[in-house]
Amino acid sequence: MRSFIAALALLSVGATAIPAPSATSSATSSSASAPIESQCLDAAAASKVATNFGSLISAYSNKSANAYLTADFEDYSDSVNTLINSGCTGPKILGQATFVSRADFEAGQGGQPNITFNIKNVWSTCGTVIVRWSSPLPNPTTSQSDFHPEEEVTGIIVLETVYQGSDCEEPYLIKTSYSEFNSGAWLTDLGVFKPSNCSASSSSKVKRSLDKGVPAAFLLGHA
Ligand SMILES: *[C@@H]1O[C@H](CO)[C@@H](O)[C@H](O)[C@H]1NC(C)=O
Ligand SMILES: *[C@@H]1O[C@H](CO)[C@@H](O)[C@H](O)[C@H]1NC(C)=O
Ligand SMILES: *[C@@H]1O[C@H](CO)[C@@H](O)[C@H](O)[C@H]1NC(C)=O
Repeated sequence: MRSFIAALALLSVGATAIPAPSATSSATSSSASAPIESQCLDAAAASKVATNFGSLISAYSNKSANAYLTADFEDYSDSVNTLINSGCTGPKILGQATFVSRADFEAGQGGQPNITFNIKNVWSTCGTVIVRWSSPLPNPTTSQSDFHPEEEVTGIIVLETVYQGSDCEEPYLIKTSYSEFNSGAWLTDLGVFKPSNCSASSSSKVKRSLDKGVPAAFLLGHA
């Protein structure tokens, strides 16, 4: 989840990174008959951006982060900030960036366990990709050190992109991520929040089996 956390965090720096559409060719252009390349995301490109980001949550590597994110990437997520804070008022300040650069993201995300990231929906505007995702219960993991959410967590991410050119391996890089998700379920599963007034019917539906090693690892990694 931590990766989650990192991944989910997102941001908003100033102006949109999307370049303006190319001016149409002038009458004197020698390539007037060539099609004008669109700089707007199409469905396939938006899906690729969503998948790229998801891989930073489910199969993280610095190599992928360097390939998919701009160096000045920013990640804003109060859901992640709250996880990092364990519900306390710090160290992260709510409303402020969780990660202020790609390197910051890499330092925070690199140590996080991989989290199942199932993409449920993808929408896009010219330069922004909107993703709805979930991490199911139980979370299939490959090692005991991985984090095991006991409840399905669902979230939404808004990814602002920068167009690099169609000849680039990644035509669209992610410049800003704004992400929120059900960190309440996560904190409960981690044992940070302890429900105290569940009805018999609701408590019978929830079976928690926390890996005692997970919370500490998770929390330490986020500081
Ligand atoms: C996450 O997945 C990637 C790709 O499979 C792997 O290289 C990396 O070691 C994994 N990270 C952790 C913390 O297990
Ligand atoms: C990944 O990048 C971060 C930020 O530069 C760095 O702190 C970390 O050591 C790197 N991890 C690996 C495995 O190279
Ligand atoms: C516990 O839940 C019951 C049933 O919803 C409610 O009537 C009661 O006020 C709750 N108690 C507390 C301390 O919140």
